[in-house]
Amino acid sequence: HFEPEARMSVLKPRRIVITAGPTLEAIDPVRFLSNRSSGKQGYAIAEVLAQRGGDVVLISGPTCLDAPECVTRIGVESARDMFDAVENALPADVFIAVAAVADWRPETTSSLKADKADAHGILKLVQNPDILHAISNRIENRPALVVGFAAETHDVLSRARAKRARKGCDWLLANDVSGDAMGGADNEIILITDTEETHWPRCAKSKIAARLADALEAKLSKA
Ligand code: C5P
Repeated sequence: HFEPEARMSVLKPRRIVITAGPTLEAIDPVRFLSNRSSGKQGYAIAEVLAQRGGDVVLISGPTCLDAPECVTRIGVESARDMFDAVENALPADVFIAVAAVADWRPETTSSLKADKADAHGILKLVQNPDILHAISNRIENRPALVVGFAAETHDVLSRARAKRARKGCDWLLANDVSGDAMGGADNEIILITDTEETHWPRCAKSKIAARLADALEAKLSKA
């Protein structure tokens, strides 16, 4: 249980939409495609921003985590459902895309369980919408600050710089997932903005969340 922090925060009147966790793309009623994601980092961010007074909407794929206190959680399964939920949650001041969205989904989902013998040709994949790219490039209701994450296993900085440009987001937090960041309790980040590239050494995901909240407060108090 927490008491909302007494100090005044510029986050207080702000609406912040966060995606977290994996998405799940159904093949048939019993099988699906998904990504490895515990949801821990996104939930930690939602929790600290709500503690500091933000009006936080957490749009989450399936995880084992409880919703943080004072956060509105909207549960979704597929990337398309996540995208719809994000659009319905706008307008917002800040959008933070932490979810490990599945890049592909089966072209068709069978309403009946496919037969084991039908393995060949069963998976024709199509691309899912890129939620971060779409929200970053909205004309109407683009949040004032759009923040993306990038999980990389190699060439972290150069890939993250390119990703920030490609997505059109304002900030990008790159994390090296070659170790045990995926599902683990710790994370290590490089924050890339238009003016800085800052290394946040390995620490607990809750601490990364607090650093991001500090950075958001600093940015929003200038805006
Ligand atoms: O392209 P990639 O998946 O590496 O980009 C990572 C960032 O983009 C994350 O912030 C993730 O939440 C977001 N993303 C998204 N929709 C997708 C794919 C990624 O919002 N379909």
